[in-house]
Amino acid sequence: MDKLVLKNVTFTYNGYKPVLVDASMEALPGEVTVLVGPTGSGKSTTLMLLAGLLVPEKGSVYFGGRPIRELENYRRLVGILFQNPEDQLFNPTVFDEIAYSLRTMGLSSSEIVDRVDSISEKLGIKHLLGEYTYRLSAGQKKLVAIASILVYSPEILLLDEPSTNIDYDGLYAIDSIIQEYVGKEKIVVIATHDTSLLERYSGRVCIVRDAKIKCRDSEALSLDEIVREARLPYLSPTRCS
Ligand SMILES: Nc1ncnc2c1ncn2[C@@H]1O[C@H](COP(=O)(O)OP(=O)(O)OP(=O)(O)O)[C@@H](O)[C@H]1O
Ligand SMILES: [Mg+2]
Repeated sequence: MDKLVLKNVTFTYNGYKPVLVDASMEALPGEVTVLVGPTGSGKSTTLMLLAGLLVPEKGSVYFGGRPIRELENYRRLVGILFQNPEDQLFNPTVFDEIAYSLRTMGLSSSEIVDRVDSISEKLGIKHLLGEYTYRLSAGQKKLVAIASILVYSPEILLLDEPSTNIDYDGLYAIDSIIQEYVGKEKIVVIATHDTSLLERYSGRVCIVRDAKIKCRDSEALSLDEIVREARLPYLSPTRCS
């Protein structure tokens, strides 16, 4: 089983206070690893380190026991959804955006059309394929960004706040795909403030706080404990009068 491991990592953005100091975590294939933690604690930074987009100043990230910097095609194995999807949308139309990675892989036009159609259908965005990406709503941009990753079936799926701005149907579609990935023994790591996702996925919960990452089996912690420690925006179901 190829684990994704962040080991003894220290990371500082140039000239700022360290975001992570000697932090470690593991994500196992076939389960969802949920990253939670206070605003600004380092969840997005951790995902970027796992994706190899940021490089630790100390420590390393390993996949299948090898440092990712030694894996030539590592970027091809990873699909990362940025917290702000606008950071990853750069093609004029939705179709071009989703097709982009497949074109770089040299697939035939008919295969590209088939794959783009199939993923857009699954995510309920087929009607948007001819639209300009800059005209889409925030939730639509997020679904297009997710489609542009899923279309090349990465081995490692890193999702930063996938449920923000997404309605029930969109979330249902994303959830079905996450379940599919888990069933195929792939790695799925999600950063979120959404307690409904924590309730949905059993696996590993990692709390990013005070420059450390503390991981536990999700069964070992109550939702209340996670909410308190990770400062999740959870309000009791009692209505305010
Ligand atoms: N490009 C950058 N340059 C300098 N500092 C940065 C940069 N990106 C993030 N930071 C800082 O790193 C820390 C961690 O940020 P990060 O975005 O990883 O937090 P987060 O846990 O994802 O927050 P949120 O819950 O708001 O999404 C913050 O203090 C932030 O100010
Ligand atoms: Mg973030």
